[in-house]
Amino acid sequence: MLDESTAILQPAAWVNGPVADIFSSYMAAVALSAAHELGLLERLAKDGWVSLDDGENGIPQLDTDAVHSICAALRWANVVHIEDDKTLIPGPNFAQAYAARGYFYWMVRGCGELFTQAPRITRKQNRTGSFYRRDMRAVAVGSRLIGDAEVEPLFDAILAAEDIRKVVDLGCGSGRRLIRIAQRRPATHCIGIDLSEDAVRAAAEAVAEYDLENRISIRLGDARSLAPEHAFRDVDTVTCVFMGHDFWPYDNCVLTLGRLRRAFPSIERLLLCDVAKTTSDSADMTIFTLGFEMAHALMGVYVPTLEEWQSAFVESGWSCRAIHPTTSPPNGFLFELHPNRTSD
Ligand SMILES: C[S@@+](CC[C@H](N)C(=O)[O-])C[C@H]1O[C@@H](n2cnc3c(N)ncnc32)[C@H](O)[C@@H]1O
Repeated sequence: MLDESTAILQPAAWVNGPVADIFSSYMAAVALSAAHELGLLERLAKDGWVSLDDGENGIPQLDTDAVHSICAALRWANVVHIEDDKTLIPGPNFAQAYAARGYFYWMVRGCGELFTQAPRITRKQNRTGSFYRRDMRAVAVGSRLIGDAEVEPLFDAILAAEDIRKVVDLGCGSGRRLIRIAQRRPATHCIGIDLSEDAVRAAAEAVAEYDLENRISIRLGDARSLAPEHAFRDVDTVTCVFMGHDFWPYDNCVLTLGRLRRAFPSIERLLLCDVAKTTSDSADMTIFTLGFEMAHALMGVYVPTLEEWQSAFVESGWSCRAIHPTTSPPNGFLFELHPNRTSD
């Protein structure tokens, strides 16, 4: 209960300061996501400036007042400076914000509707059927940007040493991992599988853009219920990034991991990368952690700890040869798994 002195707190005590900053941080996050989608961050990173006028080198397609309001929120966060009211240039926090743009796009554009619906979704009576919506195209784009800094170079390093004939990417999202693999390995064939029609459409468009349809096929499917088929018989490598938590809870995950060994009879490696649940309260909160854990709790998706993952691998007949922790995403792990041939 508020004591009397708190209850009569004067507005002057909170219209500035930490609580006001929470409000403004939200607007800065919205502005970062919008500036990414509008291409403003990319132009600042590439050219070092963006003209805010209507001319050819400026923002002729965009409403000037709306852009100025987005830039004002970014300026508050020291992400940009605005010179003479007409030229946008990077501010002291630009490099960090640009590097982290995928997290903001995932949160605001990908999960915005989920978060605004939190009160409704939290009521038990409303948690049946399709009770939430996310923008899965934006989730896929955000995930790709999140993975670009550390996860993808890790994949490239692990795969560089391997002779790979055919790759399946489960929950392929934007399709960019398969595109990169196919570009680097002219003899490798790839299949991307995703549950979301929006992600499948985006991935198929990206594959066509790179002219790789003859070596990459993208299809709609559920990674939890794959069965052996002709196209899978020579798959030696399966990748699965930022979606393994969808296999859970524990018993379902063990079933799915076992099923994957049987669906891909020639599999030599499963490279599974995911964010695990944090197990300690840290005052120094990393980017993403609160959003990732809240989003999945709202959706009713269980997020396992590192230890729970390791138990599931043992029980489902996979041996984990290496675990690579990642800094970005925080509490992420890339597991190098190999099938125990004696498990069936
Ligand atoms: C967070 S995104 C990650 C996308 C991509 N793997 C990446 O690294 O950028 C998760 C993706 O997994 C897909 N997904 C979720 N559950 C799935 C399932 N059971 N089977 C196939 N795809 C699934 C989602 O539609 C989404 O595109």
